[in-house]
Amino acid sequence: MAATFSFGVDYYPEQWPEERWALDARLMAEAGINTVRLAEFGWAKMEPDPGLFNFGWLDRAIEILAAQNIQIVLGTPTASAPPWLYQRHPDAFRVLESGDRQTYGHRRYNCPNHPAYREYSMRITTRMAEHFAQHPAVIGWQIDNEFAQGDRCCCPICTKRFQDWLKKRYHNLKNLNECWGTAFWSHGYSEWSQIPAPLKTAGSPNPGLMLDYLRFSSDSYVDFQREQVKILRKRCPSHLITHNMMGFGFNQLDNFQMARDLDFVSWDCYLHTQWDVDRQVHPHDIALSHAAMRGLKQKNFWVIEQQVGLSGWEIVGKMVRPGQTRLWAYQSIAHGADGILFFRWRSARFGTEQYWHGILNHHGQTGRFYAEIQQMGRELQSLAAEVSGSSVPSQVAIIQCYDSRFAFQIQANHKDFTYTGHINQIYQAFHAQNIAVDVISPHVDLSKYQLVIAPALHVLPAAVAERLESYVASGGVLVITPRSGVKDEANAIVDLPLPGLLARLCGVEILEYIPLYDQVSQVLSLEPGAPDLLPLVANLWCEVLQPTTAQVVTRYSEDYFKGQAAITMNRYQNGRVITVGTFGQPDLYTALLPWLCELASVQPILKAPTGVEVTLRQKNQTDYLFLLNHTAQDQTVMLDAAYTDLITEEHNIKQQISLDPYGVAVLRKK
Ligand code: GLA
Ligand code: ZN
Repeated sequence: MAATFSFGVDYYPEQWPEERWALDARLMAEAGINTVRLAEFGWAKMEPDPGLFNFGWLDRAIEILAAQNIQIVLGTPTASAPPWLYQRHPDAFRVLESGDRQTYGHRRYNCPNHPAYREYSMRITTRMAEHFAQHPAVIGWQIDNEFAQGDRCCCPICTKRFQDWLKKRYHNLKNLNECWGTAFWSHGYSEWSQIPAPLKTAGSPNPGLMLDYLRFSSDSYVDFQREQVKILRKRCPSHLITHNMMGFGFNQLDNFQMARDLDFVSWDCYLHTQWDVDRQVHPHDIALSHAAMRGLKQKNFWVIEQQVGLSGWEIVGKMVRPGQTRLWAYQSIAHGADGILFFRWRSARFGTEQYWHGILNHHGQTGRFYAEIQQMGRELQSLAAEVSGSSVPSQVAIIQCYDSRFAFQIQANHKDFTYTGHINQIYQAFHAQNIAVDVISPHVDLSKYQLVIAPALHVLPAAVAERLESYVASGGVLVITPRSGVKDEANAIVDLPLPGLLARLCGVEILEYIPLYDQVSQVLSLEPGAPDLLPLVANLWCEVLQPTTAQVVTRYSEDYFKGQAAITMNRYQNGRVITVGTFGQPDLYTALLPWLCELASVQPILKAPTGVEVTLRQKNQTDYLFLLNHTAQDQTVMLDAAYTDLITEEHNIKQQISLDPYGVAVLRKK
């Protein structure tokens, strides 16, 4: 039977002498590890020559792990095809947007649509599925590895597939030409085969073509994944299927689509890596990724790669202090992870990732990271059963729209604007107050939320506008931010006053939009009677709002649009819509938050000192509070009721609890 909570590691037995495996398995078991992911980079070892299969080594590794009661998740190995495949099919390498074809030496350099790559991929998946279907220790599969890595392919095979994809979407060229507006610059297509993949050397292609290419590229991976899912479902019907996504920050894939075919979502959570040495990754950045991953299926997820120690390839990333590995892993659970696998068991002696440190160091001996994970393994013995089956309730949702996200990748509108940064800006304000937020698709039911924020809903289909309308009509509070309702689904600008299909709901029309570059940002002036919100500062972008039915909350205070509305509120049937006309300073939503929460009756889970994160998981009316101290100091949190500490097993903790530096408490109410 599968463990209630999967606590484990990513393990590469193929990189170590076989005589070592038994010791590794024993040390894992002694650390409380019950799950191991294997083989996602083992293709060349499983199929050393085309059609010659060798699963013996993997069978033996699984036997050794299973003897320690460890369950197995197998990775299909298609993220790194063996050299023989590329030798036979050099055109299986991806063509980058620069026009360059990639070459051998790294991983994931394949074209997702190359027929031979696909055929070999499906064959190895089929053979693995058949071989391991009945194995009692195998509980599931990770498809491939991090599909979102690197550039999208622009090879001739993809170009042809794109043309076929367009035929399905537009049916005929007349329709496509109209939707894309190819009358512009004489781009009218008279044959499907004339339509190009957008290489960088093409300059700035038509935004309609570009958006469709981004959708098509994403669909290529969705389709590739689906082929594997079908093979596995047929042969291993009782096994779970997941894929390791990359959190919120990566742009290439529509993760809602990717998640649809999976039983649950997994993601790879790293904070202090080689790529983060010049920036601070904050707890809210990671929390946002957790929320975004949880939102993909609106259910709990796994972190299938959780950072252990120093992490880098060419250089060694930032230090990981005692307690932080455990803290980060608890943060994952706090946001809805039902499985944590640490990457990786032992630091590799060779290969690109020599400096991506595991639980054991290169020498294979245990040290402080092993001790920390062992401690957590012990804690989870009783904690896991308590918390398992609980979910993360939330009264607030942020809508993430991939069409809009893709559209902003093509045309950012302002040089300093990013869609992900804007969502982060909003999320961060809620996170600082310990208010849970779901990050959801525009196509799901909104009725359970008291407050919905739809940031920069740039590409807006009518169905989504209607959904927002009925949410507000039945009493919801909705926040709309700049650049919403601008584009139709073909990435053409609507022929309506902005915010287009949202104008009636917002009760405003946008008279003008004004990017701010060398102008100073301006402090907004509040309307008499408006809530006390100072200081609100406009920045990056100003939309001049002309109320039709809305009331003005703040006005611009400078320049030729001084005195015009910057933020408005509209009563629409039983609900309210707040239209924010500026992206504002990073802390704009910190200033707006008390008012928004009051309007929507949203409460923090618990007030806590800065740097202490509080989340809630709930099961059958039982509350589990996670208190996470991200600071290097002791912290004291005042409690609102009596709690039991599930780690120390101390009962009836009332007024307050103290947390060690990087300390964690998991509290059950009563
Ligand atoms: C990713 C991959 C792993 C490994 C780690 C560390 O998350 O999925 O295979 O490469 O990064 O670099
Ligand atoms: Zn290709």
